[in-house]
Amino acid sequence: MQSEFWNKRYKEEVFAYGIKANDFLMKQTFPSGSKILCLAEGEGRNGVFLAEQGHDVTCVDYSEEGVRKMAQLAEIKEVVIHPICADLNEFEFQANRWDGIVIIFGHLPTALREKVHGQFFNALKPGGKLVLEAYHKSQMDYKTGGPMTETMLYSDEELRSDFHEFEHLKITQLEREVHEGEFHFGKAAVIQVIAVK
Ligand SMILES: C[S@@+](CC[C@H](N)C(=O)[O-])C[C@H]1O[C@@H](n2cnc3c(N)ncnc32)[C@H](O)[C@@H]1O
Repeated sequence: MQSEFWNKRYKEEVFAYGIKANDFLMKQTFPSGSKILCLAEGEGRNGVFLAEQGHDVTCVDYSEEGVRKMAQLAEIKEVVIHPICADLNEFEFQANRWDGIVIIFGHLPTALREKVHGQFFNALKPGGKLVLEAYHKSQMDYKTGGPMTETMLYSDEELRSDFHEFEHLKITQLEREVHEGEFHFGKAAVIQVIAVK
């Protein structure tokens, strides 16, 4: 999918995935004042939530409309975030920069997924934490959101391989209710990752 697809979705006044943060992310904790990078962050619901917790949050998305909406949401919620409009293909991950990396339903094509995920370990500070939730490949049978292309959905093996450098790696595959705006709407097959450098 290209950024034009997302621009069209985010042009609407309504927030496509709502303004409440992702359920899995809301259960995670980071040390206070963490520097957190939220990738493929869309309209900013997760980044704004983390900023409300007092973290120093940078949000990246390649949709100009998404970046506009994340700035709007931060203003409504009266928090500061650092929005960046960039394609993850070109985004530069600096070494030992982040206390946290968050990527929620940031589905990428295989080669880009491997390239992007493969840089997280180096970009995190020692002790830094990765939080990821995505639809699992079996979401093809549920049809309640996410890309309906199997290669854009993730498996345990793929994520284990992407994050093999992490000593502390927890990958959980489960079925859960996902209700996030009009595009994530019901019982779904998801895969969740917590990894600590
Ligand atoms: C399903 S939305 C999820 C948005 C947000 N993470 C959330 O949970 O509300 C997927 C997002 O990935 C972004 N995205 C997809 N490919 C990207 C790329 N190559 N570079 C930057 N952003 C990308 C899209 O623009 C879109 O906002």
